[in-house]
Amino acid sequence: MEARRGRPVTVTHRNELPVPTVVHLHGGRTPAESDGYPTDLVLPAAWPKTASHSTDGMPGTGHMADPRAVATALTRDYIFPNDQRPTLLWYHDHRMDFTAPAIWRGLAGLYIVRDDAEEALGLPAGPREVPLMIADGAFAADGTLAYPSLDPTLRHRSGVTEPYLAGVLGDVILVNGAPWPVHEVDTARHRLRLLNGSNARHYELEAVCEDGRRLELVQIGADQGLLAAPVTHRTLPMAPAERYDVVVDFTDVPVGTLVRVRNRLGTGRTRDVLAFRIARRATTDDSRVPSALATDLPTWSRQEAVRVRDFAFRAGRMDDDRHGWLVGGRAFDPARVDVTVGLGDVEVWRLIADVHHPIHLHLVGFRVLSRGGRPPLPHDAGLKDTVSLRPGESAEIITRFDGYRGRYLFHCHNAEHEDMAMMANFEVV
Ligand code: C2O
Ligand code: CU
Ligand code: CU
Repeated sequence: MEARRGRPVTVTHRNELPVPTVVHLHGGRTPAESDGYPTDLVLPAAWPKTASHSTDGMPGTGHMADPRAVATALTRDYIFPNDQRPTLLWYHDHRMDFTAPAIWRGLAGLYIVRDDAEEALGLPAGPREVPLMIADGAFAADGTLAYPSLDPTLRHRSGVTEPYLAGVLGDVILVNGAPWPVHEVDTARHRLRLLNGSNARHYELEAVCEDGRRLELVQIGADQGLLAAPVTHRTLPMAPAERYDVVVDFTDVPVGTLVRVRNRLGTGRTRDVLAFRIARRATTDDSRVPSALATDLPTWSRQEAVRVRDFAFRAGRMDDDRHGWLVGGRAFDPARVDVTVGLGDVEVWRLIADVHHPIHLHLVGFRVLSRGGRPPLPHDAGLKDTVSLRPGESAEIITRFDGYRGRYLFHCHNAEHEDMAMMANFEVV
């Protein structure tokens, strides 16, 4: 989907699946009623009525009720004001306890917000702007997507089998739904709008020519839009749900050759992601990468912060004693407000992890202030909505909670961790 900044869009979703869904626009500055809260389910036609207030849409699974849930039958309108910096967003299912299998099976897509100011910069556009949603998958012998659910009907019991408690990895790399695609380009600058839409897989991308030369990845934007100035990378780490806006220059690559985009963290075939075939010489390339990009990046200072909070993201036991992933020692409970923030307040959050956890906040973009007690890394530049914590690492982020009042989520975006309770609420008042 493509939208213009400041021009609201209403999307009507109709659920023809056998299970409930709910749609979240990731990175959207969205009123709470359209933010896709995990219990605001869109119920399928044949679904027990009594189930509408149990958190996973099924009675008798041990979940407490969520009195604020607003379930609808069959359809729901989501209203997106698009009153935000232009960037690449994505929408995906957010059903309580069942988000991971739903994303894996394809309930996810790209959503671009544009505006005049960004278009005036002269960045590569048209066929030279390439949105790329990278996600791994796995297939059964009959060609259906394979996912290790405890309950493959996704109706009753959530969770995955024991070997996958840390997250589900596939053995096929899909880009925009196709395995290891090859895309034809001409010898010009191209703008790659990258999303890691994988449940749990991390990437460290590089673009390598057939002669072994590595092309520079010139980052111009982060999760929440353009950087102040480009940042050049040789390799680019991407955690689940992160987006990077990158310009690659194919001008000097010989026609007929391949540029492979590879994942340095992969093994065997999962090292390959996609490739660009240089199909022809460009007749013209009038695109530019200006040395000054955005002038509207928020720069909140620690002095402005009215509060500092600490959150630990660690393994633990869920309420039913199953293995889970917890925020501040607690399993997600939709009926509990974990954090109350004042509309307009600036806060610093200190996040710490046991293993890899990509931490995402709904509603707001944030800046990374520090990582492991040191200055942020080059790829932490710009305005983020997901920050990748590495094993044992801490990070400080700063944001202003503005936009809308209401109930929002923050959580780990390893989708299996998310389904295993690594999620919490903040309420903007
Ligand atoms: Cu991709 Cu709760 O988000
Ligand atoms: Cu989100
Ligand atoms: Cu996690």
